[in-house]
Amino acid sequence: MKNVTASEMNQQMAYSEQVKHLVTAGDKTPKALVITYGCQQNENDSERIRGMLKQMGYDFTEEKEEADLILYNTCAVREGAEQRVLGNVGALVHEKRRRPNLLIGICGCMMQQEHMAKTIKQKYKHVSFVFGTHTLHKFPQILWTALNEEKTVISVEDSEGVIAEDVPVYREGSPKAWVSVMYGCNNFCTYCIVPYVRGRERSRQPENVLAEVRELVQKGVTEITLLGQNVNAYGKDLPEDIDFADLLSQINQVEGLKRIRFMTSHPKDMSQKLIDTMAACHKVMPQLHLPFQAGSDRILKEMNRRYTQTQYLDLVARVKKAMPGISMTTDIIVGFPNETKEDFEETIKVLEAVRFDSVFSFIYSKRQGTPAAIMEDSISNEEKHANFDRLLEVQNRISREINDSCFGKTFELLVEGESKTDENMLTGRTPEGKIVNFPKEDGISVGDYIHVTVTKTNTWSLLGEICRD
Ligand code: 5AD
Ligand code: SF4
Repeated sequence: MKNVTASEMNQQMAYSEQVKHLVTAGDKTPKALVITYGCQQNENDSERIRGMLKQMGYDFTEEKEEADLILYNTCAVREGAEQRVLGNVGALVHEKRRRPNLLIGICGCMMQQEHMAKTIKQKYKHVSFVFGTHTLHKFPQILWTALNEEKTVISVEDSEGVIAEDVPVYREGSPKAWVSVMYGCNNFCTYCIVPYVRGRERSRQPENVLAEVRELVQKGVTEITLLGQNVNAYGKDLPEDIDFADLLSQINQVEGLKRIRFMTSHPKDMSQKLIDTMAACHKVMPQLHLPFQAGSDRILKEMNRRYTQTQYLDLVARVKKAMPGISMTTDIIVGFPNETKEDFEETIKVLEAVRFDSVFSFIYSKRQGTPAAIMEDSISNEEKHANFDRLLEVQNRISREINDSCFGKTFELLVEGESKTDENMLTGRTPEGKIVNFPKEDGISVGDYIHVTVTKTNTWSLLGEICRD
């Protein structure tokens, strides 16, 4: 049974009521701070955590000193993110000493690893509770136990994963929202921890996805991003005959919805049907995130990616043919075990051939328990870093050239909010997903669709002015 049963959800509801009764007994509303690391899937999980917290009577704060509960939703994809969480949690020991009633929790992918949960229990005794990815829906029960017990509550279940519909979601009032279509991953790329901490691929029922999209539209959302580790595998595990392209077509028909994006696609599973569907569905934005990870066929094989450079480039050519002008983004790992200078040159070759709008590049990070962690590696850190710097240099030039070619062009923008760097500016995205900042003006607010002409270009963003023609 993949779906969490109604009786289990009712049980959690009862815990939720009990927690609410307890924490709202005083005259002050308790405050929670949820800190999220990692990918959009984690952001989406944090929205569920906030939904449950709200139901349990909590308000939210951004200040640690003000919080009655601090929860870290963690990422395990690279070591750096794990070290930061451990550092931040470690530093909270003084705050906990000052305020013994402060609750500190850690959840998410990092905690789903057995050795990590153990480390927390042994070395971070000021942490009140820990839970993994498979017990997210049991948060009310976990919190209730933590409120009533002195020792650290650990809820990490070894599981292939479940789907918990009906967990309340708390989203910031934004015109954009994420919607998960599936969870987990079956691909076992040899460097990646995700299949171990997120469980097997499991798709939500199409009617549940559609209901969520419709509800969001009713609340004023006009752009949604469909999420999954590998959305191209959608439907494979469902009894009905449906794939991701079919789901996209159905969502494209939702009235009031204007923009659809999705991530992530695995090149080995991206079908011509999906390409044709993207091209045919006018709400699906001209943007595709298609990680290639490495250019060398030998490294791709070692990574268990199950495509070659030629196959990847052929796929990109078909995508570009169906959707000329589409914006492409990708993920790249530099410094996989024994990636030589010659191997790395193949990655640069792909960059030059595809000309991605932007690239998310990472230095390989060894993950305990993955096949790559025990692979021999004779490449020095200096060489890896030199390759990484070269990759950035090449890609920055390409991103800059693509952005420069936007000069003088007019784009439709969804206004998303105030610019992060200038309070006199608003910011929005083009259909291709490019950020454009423009001066604030009366009558223009978040959620509006407007036209903007690009007046200045940078490597990472564009500057524009409102176009009234
Ligand atoms: N080291 C470095 N990068 C990694 N990624 C996944 N696992 C690792 C790792 N062990 C990157 C991949 C993936 C992105 C989300 O994170 O590029 O697409
Ligand atoms: Fe990790 Fe590969 Fe699955 Fe992506 S497809 S989550 S890189 S195992």
